[in-house]
Amino acid sequence: MTGPTDVGHAHYFAFRDRLLGDLRTTILTGEQLCEAGRLIYRRPEAFSLYGIPAPRMASADIRLLGRTAIECCIDDYAAAVADALLDQHALLPDDGEQLQVVDLFCGSGNFSHHLAARLGTRVQAAELDPDVYEATRHNLEQVESAIDLHHLDYRDLLGKLPAQSERDTYFVEPPWGPAFTPAGLDLTRTSPPVPAILDDIRRSRAGHPCVIAIKTNDHIAHDSLNRSFTGARHLRTITPEPALPHGANMDFHLYQLTS
Ligand SMILES: C[S@@+](CC[C@H](N)C(=O)[O-])C[C@H]1O[C@@H](n2cnc3c(N)ncnc32)[C@H](O)[C@@H]1O
Repeated sequence: MTGPTDVGHAHYFAFRDRLLGDLRTTILTGEQLCEAGRLIYRRPEAFSLYGIPAPRMASADIRLLGRTAIECCIDDYAAAVADALLDQHALLPDDGEQLQVVDLFCGSGNFSHHLAARLGTRVQAAELDPDVYEATRHNLEQVESAIDLHHLDYRDLLGKLPAQSERDTYFVEPPWGPAFTPAGLDLTRTSPPVPAILDDIRRSRAGHPCVIAIKTNDHIAHDSLNRSFTGARHLRTITPEPALPHGANMDFHLYQLTS
């Protein structure tokens, strides 16, 4: 027999497939944004970016592609992680240098938006996909965010940003794609793989320490988080509300990366 939960699951996964399939590069309508909020977060209002809940996004001229609706960090998550980073920075020595904050896989830019507001600094962000870049550029203009958005591969952005401070912070959230299977999320199979991204960051900083924030879910495969961060110091893991009705919940991890 099929219960209401099974029906909810089926709707969620069917809509998710559409957001990552035929709606992948389509700007969602107000109705579709509310449907995404209902199915992913239980309530349309919980799906909120740049401080704007889904029911108000269309009238605020927020443009979100199907793929970004699935991939983005909502306000509740981004704000909780930005608060944790602020606390963490206070524990690190103030070397008197200007703090540099970098979002290597910008997507919606909502994580950068909250980091800029909480940490009181401009954020340097890279987005490679031209459609995502264009929608995000438009949205960040609407909300007057303190983000320098670059239409670049993350490696090219890293090449422009040598180390400044030990508190320099990089947000790492590459597309998961085939890295997420029923066995869980394998961070060595994201595109690009997380260990390769961390090597790129180390290289760009000539080994100077920095802080890394990374989003995962709570279903990690093959111990791939620990294996990716071998030699780094785990600072904190944050599991923000709301918990999700379908699929795995989100976790965010902070590390200090050394050479
Ligand atoms: C999982 S999403 C990031 C979501 C984002 N944190 C947010 O809150 O919306 C990954 C993003 O990285 C972009 N991307 C993929 N490869 C990239 C690369 N080599 N350099 C820069 N951006 C890349 C994708 O187009 C996608 O928008």
